Amino acid sequence: MILTTRLQPFLEHWRAGQKLVVLTAYNVWQSELVEDSGADMILVGDSLGNVEQGRGSTSGVTLEHMMYHTRMAARGRKIIPIVADLPLHSYDSPGDAVESSKLLVSCGADAVKFEGNPKGIAKAILEAGIPVMGHLGLLPQTAESFQVRGKQDTEAKAIDSDARELAKAGCFSLILECVPLRLGESVTQGLGIPTIGIGAGPHTSGQVLVFHDLLHLNSHRKAKFVPDRFAAIGEAIKGALGDFGREVRSGVYPSDKESYH
Ligand code: KIV
Repeated sequence: MILTTRLQPFLEHWRAGQKLVVLTAYNVWQSELVEDSGADMILVGDSLGNVEQGRGSTSGVTLEHMMYHTRMAARGRKIIPIVADLPLHSYDSPGDAVESSKLLVSCGADAVKFEGNPKGIAKAILEAGIPVMGHLGLLPQTAESFQVRGKQDTEAKAIDSDARELAKAGCFSLILECVPLRLGESVTQGLGIPTIGIGAGPHTSGQVLVFHDLLHLNSHRKAKFVPDRFAAIGEAIKGALGDFGREVRSGVYPSDKESYH
């Protein structure tokens, strides 16, 4: 397994039996907030296509977009590791995967993540000395429907066997997205690397959520696993912006104290 110094505490916390906390961030203020909250890792996910760019899916996100956002997130990070997503078509061949990963590392990523288990991709990136995180279950880059994966035995077995292959290849961790909680549990057991769940139940080694979903910053429909109890901040932001508008319109803002003399 290839690790950078920044990734060591992530694995040490897991070995010590602590649940791991991962949050996405796409720019400087978000990564500052994520790190200051005590999270173990920042994920610059290609979910930025949905929550920052307003696309219906992640499939239009390019390597240039990922590099731009990784650079911004890295400016706000102090010591925790950053994992950056390899976007769709940036890892169509082992050679492409290595070149794309090197570019993301040059922007401040400590590791890269790709979806599924395409032949030879993990091996090639790892041989280039770059740590890799896997991603199994629902694979948003290519999914035609956004449903739970691995409810049927055959699909569950395929997810389990891909997880074991990726761990054996040397990935340091694995995202499990939208799988039944029992599959989240069985994949995690004896895998030898931490699993980070999103919609994968409570038995994975840790959890990840998209920053905007957690705080209800976008108005799009939320998945079942997105909690409501942290939503107040989104409402508070809307409230503050509304207050500003009301003060401007009523002439309360700017006051004499807020003006230069
Ligand atoms: O792109 C992303 O944010 C992700 C998480 C949902 C795991 O891959």
